[in-house]
Amino acid sequence: MKFAFIIDPLSKLNPSHDTSVALMEAAQALGHDVWITQAQKLTVVNNQAWANLEKVQLTPAELVEGRWVVSERWYAISDTVSLPLEDMDAVFMRTDPPVTIPYLYATYILDYINPKKTQVINTPTGLRRANEKMYALQFKEVIPETIVSQDKLTIQKFVEKQGAAVLKPLGGKAGEGILFLEAGDRNFNSLVEISTKWGYEPVMVQTYLPAAKEGDKRIILLNGDPIGAVNRIPTGSEFRGNMAVGGRVAATEITSQEQKICALLKPQLQQDGLYFVGIDVIGGYLTEVNVTSPTGIREIDQLNGTCLGKDVIAWVENPRNS
Ligand SMILES: Nc1ncnc2c1ncn2[C@@H]1O[C@H](COP(=O)(O)OP(=O)(O)O)[C@@H](O)[C@H]1O
Ligand SMILES: [Mg+2]
Repeated sequence: MKFAFIIDPLSKLNPSHDTSVALMEAAQALGHDVWITQAQKLTVVNNQAWANLEKVQLTPAELVEGRWVVSERWYAISDTVSLPLEDMDAVFMRTDPPVTIPYLYATYILDYINPKKTQVINTPTGLRRANEKMYALQFKEVIPETIVSQDKLTIQKFVEKQGAAVLKPLGGKAGEGILFLEAGDRNFNSLVEISTKWGYEPVMVQTYLPAAKEGDKRIILLNGDPIGAVNRIPTGSEFRGNMAVGGRVAATEITSQEQKICALLKPQLQQDGLYFVGIDVIGGYLTEVNVTSPTGIREIDQLNGTCLGKDVIAWVENPRNS
């Protein structure tokens, strides 16, 4: 089969951390052709989505004494060719957030792929439907108390009621712009003004979950079913657990409460064509549904000796097996 991955420039990816690399390696290992392109290399010609593609040959990372070891030249790419994306069997849209206007435009281009010929993961409709922070709100029985607002007074009242809260920009990732807010903080007004761009942009404000100290669990869902998880534990004086800000990764289990959360999400994720997703769970509460380029596979494989990438590719080969 032929797989295309819409990703940020390969040279910017970290092969020992990025899930896109794990998926590409798995596709190659299972005998498929792997092509790459970027969101800004897509076009519509004669009502068909085309891309400037490069074929990739990867030297897979290897686990040596529990650590990923990567060759200095871990990839080789062919000359660029222009092809209809329907020549591919599957297209993974894995451009990193933020979801910008060009990102959204790329999803509109991906609408011009016939889903009967080529599976797009995640579907362009699903990517447009799901804001990574706000998608969770619809599952109200499993989320912490949360508001979304750009209004300082509304935010202030909420934080006073909660005592402590976490403010999140709606388009952020990897802990970017996440703030700890406390009633009476001398910087309170200024923090809210900066985050909301002076009342112009809504942000999420969520009750602070003390369980965050024990970790922010990433669970990978394939077609709505959990296939693996990793815990990320804040270190030192940092309250955020994200790997990008130094969170320590640790092996973990999926609890029955987390199974319940996954089961609750499954029908909606399937309906929205959100086949490959990473949810974040803190203390049994759902806090985020990552759909653009969820990560975690490398860390889970490293800790558990799994190869989740192969599970994902095998599902694409035969979706009904899941
Ligand atoms: N409600 C919360 N209570 C305590 N800590 C939180 C809460 N929500 C998020 N955090 C912390 O902030 C980090 C980032 O939050 P998250 O919502 O996952 O956004 P992103 O990962 O996109 O930056 C988490 O890893 C966690 O450590
Ligand atoms: Mg997160």
